[in-house]
Amino acid sequence: MSLRNEIELARQQAREEITSCADDKDIESARVKFLGRKGVIASLMKQIPSLPPDEKREIGLLLNALKEEIASHFAERSSQLEKEAAQARQAAEQIDITLPGRKPLHGKKHIITQTLEEIIDILAYHGFTVEYGPELETDYYNFGALNFPQDHPARDMQDTFYITDTLLLRTHTSPTQIHTMEKRQPPIRVCMPGKCFRNEAINARSYILFHQIEGLYVDEGVTFGDLKSTLYAFLSSYFGREVSLRFRPSYFPFTEPSAEVDVSCFLCSGKGCSVCKNSGWLELLGAGMVHPNVFKAVGYDPEKYTGFAWGMGIERLIMQKYGIDDIRLFFENDLRFLEQF
Ligand code: DAH
Repeated sequence: MSLRNEIELARQQAREEITSCADDKDIESARVKFLGRKGVIASLMKQIPSLPPDEKREIGLLLNALKEEIASHFAERSSQLEKEAAQARQAAEQIDITLPGRKPLHGKKHIITQTLEEIIDILAYHGFTVEYGPELETDYYNFGALNFPQDHPARDMQDTFYITDTLLLRTHTSPTQIHTMEKRQPPIRVCMPGKCFRNEAINARSYILFHQIEGLYVDEGVTFGDLKSTLYAFLSSYFGREVSLRFRPSYFPFTEPSAEVDVSCFLCSGKGCSVCKNSGWLELLGAGMVHPNVFKAVGYDPEKYTGFAWGMGIERLIMQKYGIDDIRLFFENDLRFLEQF
């Protein structure tokens, strides 16, 4: 093959290979192959000295021109690759403003807080204001003033966390009745929400921590009928439908008479279903007429005033309403549970 043909072939080869370079690495190895010290052009140059004198100059010029041509191919391909890479980067980074946005994660109130607020709202509508009492109580407020006799077995009804001999974690919200009556005179219409603590074995039905809300109404001439109508109105609002109530005689030291109050099942209206375990009734709360000894303890005249009180567990109220079967769910902070409310 004549040297001219070889030069022509090298030109075509270089053009093809440079065009097909896909990255800097390809470019570099092609550059070595064509323009390197032992490359294609160099080896063609080496043949010049052995040419006839009249061709030396011409072939030299041709090879120099080819060298420049190849160099400019490289430059072109390099800048083309750079442009392509920049475009790819831009495409990858591009923001699609037509995509739906990501919702920020909002926290919300715990179902217990939601329910307490709902209950307080309903009771406010019936004229009840809110009082809060301490979680750390003395024996006197938690028991004594509430007519639990010293060493009376009634104190065993509630497994108490004692802090000292006389300081304890309140086992119910009833002591807030005493605080309220000590600082105010009748008429009194208050509700008293809060945490309560009992040293109980933890299982699906009981937990060492729970919430209660207590209601208290004291005035001249308050009757058991007032208790019934208040609970009826309150529970119908809470369950969102008319309910029937059932009062079962019971015992609490701070009320006389005392009752446990059942409400007709909000789901089946008393026909029987899984929520009420086919009984048609849900056991909801304790209630009664304030015991005269409680009035005496706070300095009210039991001959002048009468009153009713009731207390109920918030977790139980929520469990009944939503068909929840394990009280521990309220305290485990599993978002899959909490997010449902
Ligand atoms: N304190 C009682 C308990 O925790 C509940 C209760 C019963 C409260 C009757 C009352 C009441 O105010 O009148 O078991």
